[in-house]
Amino acid sequence: MFKNLSKFVCCLGLVNGTQMACSQLQNDHSYNRMQHYNFLSQDQLHNLLNKHKNLFILRENQTQHILSMIRDVNSDIVTFRQNSDRLIRILLEQALAHIEKKNSIKQSPLGFYDANQVKFSDQEICIVSILRSGNAFLNEALKVIQGASIGQILIQRNEETSMPKYFFEKLPENINEQQIILVDPMLGTGGSASMALKILQNYGVKQENIIFLNLVSCEQGLNKVFKEYPKIKIITAQVDPILIKEINYLAPGIGDFGDRYFGTVKKHTRAEQV
Ligand SMILES: *[C@@H]1O[C@H](CO)[C@@H](O)[C@H](O)[C@H]1NC(C)=O
Repeated sequence: MFKNLSKFVCCLGLVNGTQMACSQLQNDHSYNRMQHYNFLSQDQLHNLLNKHKNLFILRENQTQHILSMIRDVNSDIVTFRQNSDRLIRILLEQALAHIEKKNSIKQSPLGFYDANQVKFSDQEICIVSILRSGNAFLNEALKVIQGASIGQILIQRNEETSMPKYFFEKLPENINEQQIILVDPMLGTGGSASMALKILQNYGVKQENIIFLNLVSCEQGLNKVFKEYPKIKIITAQVDPILIKEINYLAPGIGDFGDRYFGTVKKHTRAEQV
């Protein structure tokens, strides 16, 4: 697969008018690590946020250090998991920040104060994981919202066609009464997310009750999901500039998040020393 990647990167290089010699790249049988991807400019981010009112991007100064370690191909599994968990925690807390609060008067050890708490009890919240990678969120999700129910939807990419294929779902019966936090680490084409949202819709879940969390997304996926489900909220840590279409990988991306988080990385995809 990474053999192919070097060819795609080569084409991108030409489109972008970089000075790399194509022939040089095609003879390179390892995946190409010479391409430098620039993140979106402030203007591009501003336009994206203007276009999608329900898109929320975490503050860069809160995420850049963590994401830099997650993306790094040389990060070992402990570093990868630790930093993924940190970022997932921030995303989850951010999701709770978007849920309506109810007020009450409570007592501190010193006196009374106005309390504002998430209007749902834990039991009224359902974390819906798009398998397999979505399960990486569960570790932190069950620390933050210990009583939440967990729904799972198995959608896998067909390796031949790259199209998402639905296998099964297991969701709480009363899911249409719950606040949904849908989780998937990467939003690429938006194919899986769109399929998962369709299933939630079939269960009677309202778009307004869905917050979709991901670590890295791209404009194409955001456009697709918001076109079909304009009322959901999406919270993402960063928007990547490129979706390498032929293999559906974001760039610079993270690689295969599930493989890295669950420790099923194939040796040949690791970094080579330059
Ligand atoms: C982080 O970024 C936000 C938004 O750009 C800014 O308001 C805030 O002051 C920054 N925080 C620090 C500690 O620099």
